[in-house]
Amino acid sequence: MLEQKRNNQFSVDPAVLEKQKEYAEMVRTVLSARYAPKEPKAFVHTYGCQGNVSDGEKIKGILCELGFSLTDDLNDADFVLYNTCAIREHAQDRVFGNVGKLKPIKEKKRDMIIALCGCMMQQDYVAEKIKKSYPYVDLVFGTHVIHKLPEFIYRCLCSGKRVFDLSGGDGNIVEDLPIHRDGSFKAWIPIMYGCNNFCSYCVVPYVRGRERSRDFDAVVSEAKSLVEAGYKELTLLGQNVNSYNKDLDESLRFPALLRAINAIPGDFIIRFMTSHPRDCTTALLQAMADCEKVAKHLHLPFQSGNDRVLREMNRHYDRAKYLSLIEEAYRLMPHLSITSDVIVGFPGETAEEFEDTLSLVEKVKYTSLFTFIFSPRPGTKAALLADPTPREEKNRRFKALTDLQEALAGARTLAMKGKTYRVLVEEPAKAQGFLSGRTEGNVIIEFPGCPDLIGTFQNVTVTEPKTWVLKGELA
Ligand code: SAH
Ligand code: SF4
Ligand code: F3S
Repeated sequence: MLEQKRNNQFSVDPAVLEKQKEYAEMVRTVLSARYAPKEPKAFVHTYGCQGNVSDGEKIKGILCELGFSLTDDLNDADFVLYNTCAIREHAQDRVFGNVGKLKPIKEKKRDMIIALCGCMMQQDYVAEKIKKSYPYVDLVFGTHVIHKLPEFIYRCLCSGKRVFDLSGGDGNIVEDLPIHRDGSFKAWIPIMYGCNNFCSYCVVPYVRGRERSRDFDAVVSEAKSLVEAGYKELTLLGQNVNSYNKDLDESLRFPALLRAINAIPGDFIIRFMTSHPRDCTTALLQAMADCEKVAKHLHLPFQSGNDRVLREMNRHYDRAKYLSLIEEAYRLMPHLSITSDVIVGFPGETAEEFEDTLSLVEKVKYTSLFTFIFSPRPGTKAALLADPTPREEKNRRFKALTDLQEALAGARTLAMKGKTYRVLVEEPAKAQGFLSGRTEGNVIIEFPGCPDLIGTFQNVTVTEPKTWVLKGELA
């Protein structure tokens, strides 16, 4: 059992990591010869999901160890890196556009290193396109080899040749990489990587490899040290957190992990995403209900309300199963806030089938929805399906869905008027003198207050409920 508990079938050979330490030392020497007494500057921008943001924090951590300081100004940077996302075509187009804009900057600044990494690079046709059409990109690496960044940079600095490394198939888990966290009171904790679900529309299993869970104790001890460092909100990340350690003993699976983190002393809130309805169990809902630190917020993507479309999507649940989960969740947690993801215009979705999506939204009463128009991803099954529905019709469905959700959310927020909620104060709001805080249910409330409240929990009474942003005052 102990053997299993360490879950170390995914650990990287320590010799590989030792080698990276040597590279890091050499990079520091080269950089200081080139830039001292100044520090070289790195610009890092991440697209996509929180999992990618978390990778970006590790990349920044490594860059800081190599002697870079971070900058938000592209023109000031000696090292530029885009950490990319491949989930929809639009996400990719933006990256190509932004990489194009680097060309004139690089022409003026020959020493600048331009790097691309992340999910987009894990697709062969993209890596080929970069190789051929973007000769000024120096470094391209995939999602499985972040820990080799010291070596890549060393090779860029010393060989003058372009470096491409998209190796690592199903990837490994590297513990103890340095992390430069973006926030000082909210933290991301990845608990698993990759995905085995192969939803027919989705590129993630191809670019992130097979599902693999981090060691239980490693996750708990990271959570503990974050709480000790004063973090107030921990978000556990995975494409499908419910299947965390699913081949191991129950005492090591996701509900047990929630309970173990909940037991850490301190005033903090636990969030997690994403849950797949297929693996969402009574044990999970019960753990949520029992654990006072776990936010009563469930992000449970349904994608479509129609059974035929769900089958085509390879989602492994139907409308009835989804609705029974929702019913059970509301029974255990009457004030639960539920959010979801929906895809509109999946290939072959008829107007009638789309009505099932609308009726499901009407039934569940989501706090908010992330709505997407289907985007064909090369290499996925759905990209090969006939898709006769015209774009205008898909746009019409999209608008019908967002209009419906807006009306429902309006009614929901109206019911919040006069009630008091505990919020984690996150940042100054746009309006002068106002702060922005988030309720446990993931609703944003803006209220007048002093910036020194940022990073603390406060009770706020809702005074003016608007659909998206509620106004309130300190209770
Ligand atoms: N692992 C999560 C989802 C990650 S991707 C889950 O299964 O719930 C986030 C969302 O992007 C998905 O839930 C889906 O709604 C959307 N999405 C993924 N691929 C898409 C595509 N090809 N076109 C449009 N939306 C897509
Ligand atoms: Fe993509 Fe499905 Fe995996 Fe989510 S569960 S990442 S939608 S394949
Ligand atoms: Fe995008 Fe990769 Fe996340 S494709 S959504 S960054 S896993």
